[in-house]
Amino acid sequence: MNGKNPDPAPHPFSGREAERSPDALSSGVDLVREAFRYQSRFDGSTMVFKIDFPVTEDPAFPYLVRDLALLARTGFRVVIVPGAKEWIDSVLGEYGIVSRYMGNTRITASDAMPFVEMAAFHVATRFMTGISAGRTDAVIGNFVRARGLGIVDGTDMERTGTVDKIFTGSINTVLSQGMIPILPCIGWSPAGKSYNVPSDEIALAASTALKAIKLFVISAHEGLRAGQYIFPPGFEAASGGRVRRLTPQEAENILALNGEGKGGPDKNAAGEKGAPSRKVLGELALALKACRAGVDRVHLMDGREEGAVLLELFSNLGAGAMIYTDEYEAIRDLRSGDIPDILRMMEPLMQQGILVRRRAEDIQERRGDYVVFDIDGKIHACGALHDRGEGQGEIAAIATDPSCTDTGLGRRIIGYLVDRAKKRGMKRVFVLTTRAHDWFEALGFRESAVESLPAERSRSYDRNRKSKIFALELN
Ligand SMILES: CC(C)(COP(=O)(O)OP(=O)(O)OC[C@H]1O[C@@H](n2cnc3c(N)ncnc32)[C@H](O)[C@@H]1OP(=O)(O)O)[C@@H](O)C(=O)NCCC(=O)NCCS
Repeated sequence: MNGKNPDPAPHPFSGREAERSPDALSSGVDLVREAFRYQSRFDGSTMVFKIDFPVTEDPAFPYLVRDLALLARTGFRVVIVPGAKEWIDSVLGEYGIVSRYMGNTRITASDAMPFVEMAAFHVATRFMTGISAGRTDAVIGNFVRARGLGIVDGTDMERTGTVDKIFTGSINTVLSQGMIPILPCIGWSPAGKSYNVPSDEIALAASTALKAIKLFVISAHEGLRAGQYIFPPGFEAASGGRVRRLTPQEAENILALNGEGKGGPDKNAAGEKGAPSRKVLGELALALKACRAGVDRVHLMDGREEGAVLLELFSNLGAGAMIYTDEYEAIRDLRSGDIPDILRMMEPLMQQGILVRRRAEDIQERRGDYVVFDIDGKIHACGALHDRGEGQGEIAAIATDPSCTDTGLGRRIIGYLVDRAKKRGMKRVFVLTTRAHDWFEALGFRESAVESLPAERSRSYDRNRKSKIFALELN
C-alpha cells in the first residue's frame, strides 16, 4: 500500500500560505527552521541507505530516490545498497532454479550466479534510473571485494561470499563529485571471481568503513509494533503502538524476547498483525550490529511512506524507528537560556487557562525546580517539581510541544519528577489540573481533597479556578 495521503496538507513551500491559518503557518515555519538546523548539522556527512527490493516496486519509490538525489545535490554523501533478495528469488524461479538457504543466507549455486548477477544489476539499475530523473549522477560499481564463504557446517556455499573489503577510496572519489555510489549485492575476489554477498552485510561494512553517521534500513512493511512483538518490561511504544526510538540495549532485549529473528521461514514477512516477522527482527539485528560498530543512528523505515526519509532526517518528528547511541534526547535541568522556549510552548496553554500564567521572572526565580525534555538540542516538553513542605511535592507546568504529543514525553517527564521526589525523601506528590485529570489518573494519581495539601498550599489554593487535585503516594 502506498502511504500517500489522498488530500495532503499544503507543503511549506507550496505557495498556498494565504489559505492557511496562522497556527499552520507558524508550524510550517518551525518545520523549516528545524530543517535548517538539521541541514547544518549533517551537511557533508555520509549516510548509507539500504533499500529492500519490494520498495522498488512501490508507487512511492520514484519520490524516495528523488529525495535521495536531492540530498546528494545539497551536500549530503549518499550511498545506496539495494537489497534484491525477492527479485533474485523470482528470477531464479523463472529459470527453474530453486534457492536453498542456510539460515537467512542463500546458497548461491555456480550455475545460478549469472542469473543472480542479472537480477542484482537489474535492481541497481532501477535506482540509477530514479536518480537520473532527479538530475543527479550515480555510479554502480565494484566497490566490494569479496571472498567465498567456502564450506560451512559441511555445506558448500559455492558462490555465496562475504565482504573482504570495502573500497572506500573509490567510493569517496565518487562521493566527492556529488555522485551517488550504488553497491549491488555482488562482490569480486582479487582474482576477479564474482560472489553473491548479502546486502545487509554490505550495508553494515560500508557504514563502518565510510564512518557513516547514519544507516537507513528501508523496507516495505510497518516495522516494530506493540501487540505483535514482546517488549521488555518498562519499554513503552508511542501512541498507536509505533516504536519511534530505542537504545541498543532495548533493541537487544527485544531481539532476545522475540527469538532473534533467526531460523525458519518468515511466517509474517508482510508485517501483518499477529506473529513477529523474522524480517523485521533481522533488520533490528542489523541496526544493533551497526550501532555496536560505531554508527550513531540507525533508522528503520517504511519506504512506502512518501517523504519519510526527509521527515526523519530534517525534523525530530521522525517517521520510522531510530536506534541511537549518541546523546539524542535527555531530560535535564532548565537553563536560563531555555526560558523563552518553554514560555513559547506554554503560552497557548496559558492563554486557554489550562496552565497558570507564569512570567520569565517567576520561572527564573524557581529555575532549579524545572526540567526540560531536550531532543537534539530542541526543547519539546517541560515540567517542574516544587517542594511544598510537609513531605509533599507539587508537580506543575507540565507541557508537551503539540508537534510531539502522544510520543510518551509527558509520561517520561512525570516519571522523572516522581523519581526526583522520591530521592528527595518526599512522601507524596500532587498536581492541580483543570483538563488533564484523566491523564494523571491513568498514570496512577488519585483524586484528593484540598485538605490533603500542605497547610500553606491549601491556603493559596485558588478556589475560583476549581482545579482538581490529583496525588500519588510514594511509599
Ligand atoms: C497532558 C500532556 C502533558 C500530555 O503530554 P504527552 O507528551 O502527549 O503525553 P504522553 O505521550 O505521555 O501520553 C499520551 C496519552 O495520554 C492521552 N492524553 C493526552 N492528554 C490527555 C488529557 N488531557 N486527558 C486524558 N488523556 C490525555 C493521549 O490520548 C495519549 O493516549 P494513548 O497513549 O492511549 O494514545 C499534554 O497533552 C499537554 O501539554 N497538555 C496541556 C497542559 C496540561 O494539561 N498539563 C497538565 C497540568 S500541569
